[in-house]
Amino acid sequence: AVALGACGRDSTGQTAQLLPSRASLPKPYTVRLPIPPVKKPLRSDATTDYYEVVQKVADARILPGLRTPILGYDGIFPGPTLISRSGRRIVVRHRNELPVPTVVHLHGGHTPASSDGYPIDLLLPSAGWSPGASHASTGHGAAMMTGDVAKGQRDYTYPLDQRAATLWYHDHRMDFTAPQVYRGLAGFHLVHDDEEAALPLPKGERDIPLMICDRAFEHDGAFRYPSLDRELRSTPGVDADFMEGVLGDVILVNGAPWPELEVDAARYRFRILNASNARRYQFALRTGDSTSVPFVQVGGDGGLLERSVELQSIVAAPAERFDVVVDFSGYRPGTVVTMTNQLGSGPTARVMRFRVTRKVRDDSRVPDRLSTIERLDPAKAVHTREWRFARGVINEEHKGWTINGKPFDPRRMDARPRLGDIEIWRFTADLHHPVHIHLDPFQVLRRGNHSPSDSESGWKDTVDLRPTETVEVAVRFTDHRGAFMLHCHNLEHEDMAMMASFATV
Ligand code: C2O
Ligand code: CU
Repeated sequence: AVALGACGRDSTGQTAQLLPSRASLPKPYTVRLPIPPVKKPLRSDATTDYYEVVQKVADARILPGLRTPILGYDGIFPGPTLISRSGRRIVVRHRNELPVPTVVHLHGGHTPASSDGYPIDLLLPSAGWSPGASHASTGHGAAMMTGDVAKGQRDYTYPLDQRAATLWYHDHRMDFTAPQVYRGLAGFHLVHDDEEAALPLPKGERDIPLMICDRAFEHDGAFRYPSLDRELRSTPGVDADFMEGVLGDVILVNGAPWPELEVDAARYRFRILNASNARRYQFALRTGDSTSVPFVQVGGDGGLLERSVELQSIVAAPAERFDVVVDFSGYRPGTVVTMTNQLGSGPTARVMRFRVTRKVRDDSRVPDRLSTIERLDPAKAVHTREWRFARGVINEEHKGWTINGKPFDPRRMDARPRLGDIEIWRFTADLHHPVHIHLDPFQVLRRGNHSPSDSESGWKDTVDLRPTETVEVAVRFTDHRGAFMLHCHNLEHEDMAMMASFATV
């Protein structure tokens, strides 16, 4: 294992605990970057594409010579990439061949409540399941069985009536999201539209999704996670250490440790997703002689920005997406460009490497103007709501994380916004909390005393809320009535009850 000391603090500015690996790890940049396969529909009709995904246990090859058991969509990690066209409906039949219940959520999807993956709308294993001893001591597991329960398989319907954007799908099972995503239940879902297709941005093989997350490994190659198969809170001693979130010492990109990608001397579009449970990153690019290479950001969580933004580094909280163009065209074959994490140290300061292999013709470019974003006018807001994210008490036995002082209760609705209204939601935090809203994206109005940066000025669905900070966003829900979520996307916080529900009316 790479020596980082015992479970110490990582230099992320977070207090989350670092879990060191016990397996021997590969040298950085010796593994090729894998690209998740694109899923093909089983059939299509005039309005809809139909997919089938099987959730199963499988062995992944992540560390050399070792097998890592995963929970995988189609048995792979990351899961297969779905690619859709805006406005074209898709139905994804998920079959659960895992030993545990699951819930599928399309993060960033404008999805009806019945398919949004409410945390107690369980898809039970096809082979059967009964909540066993593992639930005996959970804080609020009693609510488990009161949702909309399906067994074996379930059809999730996505209208995808939304702009082109980089979405992702992942598990959302109440109290168990963190361990189930950690073990592999996450994949990309890209939505394209005509506006984006008409732009001269890099396309095809030069449009590459990068799912970045940290993991720790056991001697035998298994993922190392505190109390993997039990509930975190039910294990004495785990509370205190991992309440802040779990950090691993291995950085995976598309499931490979510190990989390398061979690139042409051309522009590339990378859709960066921070799929980590708790880790924040600050990504930067450098050549061998340590010249900094900029990212040109063209999009965020909710699709294209109005104008591109040149950034020397990108701070990414869990679940945030950054759609960037990197220009390798000026580099000679043989040049290496390394992507680092300025918030990490030692192994967690490295992410991946690009190696320029050949000169090519490239007529892609980044136009000045990318899109038009309708502004949600805060003066037209009909409601302002406060959401306070802080440590708190879940019940007599357990500390956890709360919103407005309350732990998550799936039967309690904490707000009833009216469809079509503009509202201002004001978030305050004790520590770092990446705040995510389901159903519709929002616009950041203020961060502390400042207006949002250009990078943060597009549509977002997750915002990096920093210690003691207040962030105000404008949001407007449309189309779908029902129960949706608002929560912290630090997945350990989420499982320790930092979620709230709202019902659109
Ligand atoms: Cu990415 Cu409610 O989740
Ligand atoms: Cu949090």
